[in-house]
Amino acid sequence: MKVLLLENIHPSAVEAFRRVGFEVDLRPGSLSEDELVDELPGVSLLGIRSNTTITPRVLEAGRDLLAVGCFCIGTNQVALIDAADRGVAVFNAPFSNTRSVVELVIGEIIALARRLPEKNQRMHQGVWDKSARGSHEVRGRTLGIVGYGNIGTQLSNVAEAIGLRVIFYDTADRLAHGNARRVGSLDLLLAESDVVSLHVDGRPGNAGLFGADQFAKMKAGAAFINASRGMVVDDASLREHILSGHLSGAAIDVFPIEPKAQGDPFESPLKGLDNVILTPHVGGSTQEAQEEIGHFVANKLIGFVRAGSTALSVNLPEVAPPQPEGAFRMGYLHTNMPGVLAGINQILADTGVNVVGQSLSTRGEQGYVVTDTESALPEAALSELLREPQTLWLRTWRP
Ligand SMILES: NC(=O)c1ccc[n+]([C@@H]2O[C@H](COP(=O)([O-])OP(=O)(O)OC[C@H]3O[C@@H](n4cnc5c(N)ncnc54)[C@H](O)[C@@H]3O)[C@@H](O)[C@H]2O)c1
Repeated sequence: MKVLLLENIHPSAVEAFRRVGFEVDLRPGSLSEDELVDELPGVSLLGIRSNTTITPRVLEAGRDLLAVGCFCIGTNQVALIDAADRGVAVFNAPFSNTRSVVELVIGEIIALARRLPEKNQRMHQGVWDKSARGSHEVRGRTLGIVGYGNIGTQLSNVAEAIGLRVIFYDTADRLAHGNARRVGSLDLLLAESDVVSLHVDGRPGNAGLFGADQFAKMKAGAAFINASRGMVVDDASLREHILSGHLSGAAIDVFPIEPKAQGDPFESPLKGLDNVILTPHVGGSTQEAQEEIGHFVANKLIGFVRAGSTALSVNLPEVAPPQPEGAFRMGYLHTNMPGVLAGINQILADTGVNVVGQSLSTRGEQGYVVTDTESALPEAALSELLREPQTLWLRTWRP
């Protein structure tokens, strides 16, 4: 099993692959489309980050490719539908950097309450401005979390541990952690919070969620944090509310338009404002998150090739069957059409082999069935399934 890892993927992934005996070819940079076309034959698993583009032409050249691991959050760089049509599974790491975002936000809540950006800037200008004016402890102050998902809930727990009172608003039903209190509307949250922190997802309806109306409803002197998505906030309105003194500060990590490449110029109406922390979308960018991403995606790829699990695949139907002790497993990916399951089960029934478990799922144009049997399936039955016109691939394991 040959694994090609591009773009300096963390050594935790290399270790995971080598532990199970896979051969790893590790490269520091990305490869162009032409280079990928040359290099992919013979490669079973490809690991990339955001700078490698997997086009339909690359997938066509990757005739031995079983799966692509995106060792990052986004998967826009991969032609996902083409990959699914070829039966190539794509995985990513959607949750591995949540703790990093939480720690950045906690740091920002304290930094804004103590007006650190401003004090730091004055010191660098040679101005000794020793004063408690506008500086607060965070203990006992109210943090309003908008979006109580993976990040929002973790932030809730860590914020309570340093003495913040936590309230949250989420459009979905979410269980309150610790002593946090759900509020029934965004307006109620804005009226009560000393700090508002946004952790909503990027669904299209969230574009412009936070603008002039919402800033006007925040408490005088409150601070605002956005480490979710740039398009959610109207930064020009935020600028007005900082300049007017209605808000005491802000920390922004994500922007509606972000520079494409390292060193590209950055433009924002929030530049040059007092007590405003601007960071270049680094909420999730830590060594620890990279290590966690390395483990997570490598283990997804290993689980896929060794046991047929497609749990958390972003493009194939998700099946994560438990492995019954000693069973033989067959994974069968097919075009999604009526009657396929009945056809498979007829072929299996004709073998007389006892089926001990079966899981299936469909997604878009594909269906995926994992069948566990007490003994190995006869070659004739496997060949018969392979000949079916709807077959994309068939694999067997005895993990
Ligand atoms: N700054 C960074 O580097 C960084 C890193 C990781 C994630 N993120 C971003 O952080 C955000 C949160 O990530 P997550 O993993 O916690 O997502 P998640 O999907 O687990 O949680 C999002 C929550 O927001 C809620 N929600 C959606 N729209 C809402 C609305 N209009 N009002 C109230 N609640 C709403 C959802 O119901 C859900 O509970 C995402 O946008 C993600 O892209 C940023």
